[in-house]
Amino acid sequence: MHATIGSVKTWVPTSWQERPAAQQPEWPDPAALEEVLKELAHLPPLVFAGETRTLKSSLARVAEGGAFLLQAGDCAESFNESSADSIRDRLKVILQMAVVLTYASGLPVVKLGRMAGQFAKPRSAATERVGDVELPSFRGHAVNDAAFDAGRRRPDPQRMLRAYHQSASSLNLIRALTKGGFADLNKIHVWNQEFVAASRQGRRYEALARQIERSLQFMAACGIDLHGDRALHEVDFYVSHEALLLGFEQALTRQDSLTGDWYDCSAHLLWVGERTRQLDGAHIEFLSGVHNPIGCKLGPGATPDEVLALCERLNPDNEPGRLTLITRMGAKRIEERLPPLVSAVKEAGAGVVWTCDPMHANTFMTPNGFKTRRLEDVFAEIRSFFTIHHAEGTVPGGVHLELTHENVTECLGGAEEIFDVDLANRYEALCDPRLNARQSLDLAFQIGEMLQTG
Ligand code: PEP
Ligand code: CO
Repeated sequence: MHATIGSVKTWVPTSWQERPAAQQPEWPDPAALEEVLKELAHLPPLVFAGETRTLKSSLARVAEGGAFLLQAGDCAESFNESSADSIRDRLKVILQMAVVLTYASGLPVVKLGRMAGQFAKPRSAATERVGDVELPSFRGHAVNDAAFDAGRRRPDPQRMLRAYHQSASSLNLIRALTKGGFADLNKIHVWNQEFVAASRQGRRYEALARQIERSLQFMAACGIDLHGDRALHEVDFYVSHEALLLGFEQALTRQDSLTGDWYDCSAHLLWVGERTRQLDGAHIEFLSGVHNPIGCKLGPGATPDEVLALCERLNPDNEPGRLTLITRMGAKRIEERLPPLVSAVKEAGAGVVWTCDPMHANTFMTPNGFKTRRLEDVFAEIRSFFTIHHAEGTVPGGVHLELTHENVTECLGGAEEIFDVDLANRYEALCDPRLNARQSLDLAFQIGEMLQTG
């Protein structure tokens, strides 16, 4: 419902309810849903408006080419992976990648997890059929369970409360680790040296790792206290997720006491997915009114007119750092689909962060039924992304990746040369295939090389 002042409609957190909302679960018990949303609305915010403003100003630097964005984490987080070890190890991979990228680019790296809230998934079909049985699709642990069982696939709103509480405890640990010494640059560098030493593929990056080592020695020789300086053992780490379940997001949307503006306090950055970015749809309406930095996925079907309309709708004041366009075109189509979008946005003078999701349009099924991605396609899409932006004179601002710290076998190729037949060894993805820790570091070093050669 819009609150109306004179004839001008003012955005309120419920405005989206007047629009069609794609990809919402069919909650079987509306009264139970209402109860949960009411409870969520009374719980404390997970993040604070001031933090999201700091992220927005960092993203404004990314848009100008003064920083690089690393957004990474699970496709779908799991309620079964809430242990301290699991959160710490996921964070560790991202921090390791960030050190490589910082050194290679010579720029600060903005670290943004797909973490502490990435519990809801859009699906290509509302139901899944196995033999004669048809059940609701798995929509993320905030909605139902992945197991193909009628009871466990039934959407249960209590799961949104669990998602809230798990996000709160993950964030608590992330804040403690990133400010309490775990993010120490020396330590992260040692982990990277271990990766480099441990495999043939890793040894390709000896030169880069040695350069980082020399820089640390140089700093120490100059009298910089590598252990005492806060900048070297603390990092700012932000969290993000897809703003899919609009009831949940609305319940966590709060008015900032300082500015009077609305912020979705479920995460620092929220993005709208490829399946829910309809211009007149509920998701765009919702995100248009919150003051967080926001992201928008753009697949190969996106047209220049559509992208300009999205910029206008999501960032009418052209506020720096407000809008990140996450392109996911696929290695085969990026060269055809991305340049017209980039030049249209540039010509319109819209200030955006351009970032590359080299995962979602490179997914395919193997003959033996595994959803996978080839590392070489992931590398190829990122390489084209850089080439296209360099040719247009625009800024290739960052990457958006799906990864895990676990030693899974879900994507093909990379340091350990995972083949089709290996996928069954350890395939644990709840939704999309993720890079494992070694593949992630391999990728970071490859992007590092691309950044160094310009
Ligand atoms: C995702 O990021 O997991 C996802 C579903 O992406 P997209 O909306 O780009 O398909
Ligand atoms: Co995904």
